[in-house]
Amino acid sequence: MENKFYKQLLDNNKEWVQSKLDLDPDFFNKLANGQQPPVLWIGCADSRVPANEIIGAQPGEVFVHRNIANMVIHSDMNMLSVLDYAVNALKVRHVIVCGHYGCGGVAAAMGNQHIGLIDNWIRHIKDVYRFHAEELDAITDEKQRFDRYVELNVVEQVFDLAKTSIVQNAWNNKQTLHIHGWVYGIGDGIIKDLGVNFTNNDELDNVYQLKF
Ligand code: CO
Repeated sequence: MENKFYKQLLDNNKEWVQSKLDLDPDFFNKLANGQQPPVLWIGCADSRVPANEIIGAQPGEVFVHRNIANMVIHSDMNMLSVLDYAVNALKVRHVIVCGHYGCGGVAAAMGNQHIGLIDNWIRHIKDVYRFHAEELDAITDEKQRFDRYVELNVVEQVFDLAKTSIVQNAWNNKQTLHIHGWVYGIGDGIIKDLGVNFTNNDELDNVYQLKF
């Protein structure tokens, strides 16, 4: 059964290649020439939130980084490398942090269960709870509190993006770079724009604003 599923993936790939070639015989030749995606996507690793598919993007249009609970951790070399390459080499014009309702990472952060090494990753999400404890503790309905926690986590990650030297340097160089926070609904497929859109570092607390 498992082996059959695995084999099916390779068969699917052959069909996909053919379907693309049927529409455009040059499809892969064009992609082989390089990429110039306008968007960097920072999303959750959750299998139900496939970046390209939910926004109807084609290969070559979205540079993607995914981790558990779409976190922007400023000491994460993987995230920083992706961000640096996307901003400074590819010159993306938008960075989107996309979280999702029902996120297992955020659910874990709301609880106290020891899971393993991941506890240390989850801790960054717990910090978000601490920053917004007053608002979150006031929500008595657990589902509503969970949803709001997911949203606030995205907002914090957008701020954390703005705090990076990479993003502030791009803004200082007058490079067009918009950063956004979205939440995807697993249950209905709809994306909600949280309206946290930055194009400069004015909204950061003074202590985070870098001078160049
Ligand atoms: Co998730």
